[in-house]
Amino acid sequence: MSPHHSLHLADFSRDAAKHILDLGRTALAERGLFRLALAGGNTPRVVYEAMARIGAEFPWAKTQITFSDERCVPPDDVDSNYRMAKESLLVPANIPEGNIFRMRGEIDPATAAEEYEARLAAFASRCGEARYVHDVLLLGLGPDGHTASLFPGSPALDESVRNVIPVIGPKPPPQRITFTFPIINAARNVIFLASDESKLPVIEAAQAGDARYPSSRVTSATWLLAF
Ligand code: 6PG
Repeated sequence: MSPHHSLHLADFSRDAAKHILDLGRTALAERGLFRLALAGGNTPRVVYEAMARIGAEFPWAKTQITFSDERCVPPDDVDSNYRMAKESLLVPANIPEGNIFRMRGEIDPATAAEEYEARLAAFASRCGEARYVHDVLLLGLGPDGHTASLFPGSPALDESVRNVIPVIGPKPPPQRITFTFPIINAARNVIFLASDESKLPVIEAAQAGDARYPSSRVTSATWLLAF
C-alpha cells in the first residue's frame, strides 16, 4: 500500500476539520495531549475556521500548537502565518496562550529558529523523545512542489539534524523559518491540505516520489483534497 493516499472531500473545510479533530481525539485518548502543527499559506484558513466551529467542545486546553513554518514578519503582519491561525482558530477556539509555540518572525531568523529548536527539544526530552513527535502535522503544497518553506534546490532539503532552520525562499516574503524533513517525517500523521485543482499534477508526482518536488521527501501522508 502506498505511503501516500488522497481523500477527495465533498465538503473540504468541514471534512478536513473533522478528520483532523478525529485524529486529535485519538491522541488525547492515547496520551492525554494533542500535538498539532499548523500549516501556513491561504488554503488552511477555511479548515481552521471549521475546526473552531465544529470543535467548540474539543479539549483545546490539552492541545499544543506548533507551526510548520513562519514568515519573518511581525505577528500582526498580514503575511504572518501566526496571524492567519490566530484569526481563524487560536482565538475562536480560545486555545490558551501557553499552549501555542509561536515562531518569533519579528526577531533575527537564526535566533528565532534556535529558540524554537530549544523549546521543542525541551518538551521532547520530557516525553523521552529523540525528536519532538507531532500527532498531526499539517502542510500545504506550492505549485513548485514546495512544502512548509522547503523550496526546490534549497540546501534546507538535506538538513538531517536540526528540526527548525532559517531559509530564504522564492515565495514572498523571502525570509522564513521552517520545519525540516526530519521533524516532519517524525510525526505520527502528516496531512497535506490542497484546494486548488491545478496542483493535482504536482501532487501526483510528489506522491510518486518525483525528486523535482520537495514534497516527495515526505515519507508518508494523507492528502486532503477539495477536488
Ligand atoms: C507558506 C506555506 C507554504 C504554503 C504553500 C501553499 O508559509 O507560504 O507554508 O508552504 O503552504 O505555498 O500556499 P497556499 O495554501 O496559499 O496555496
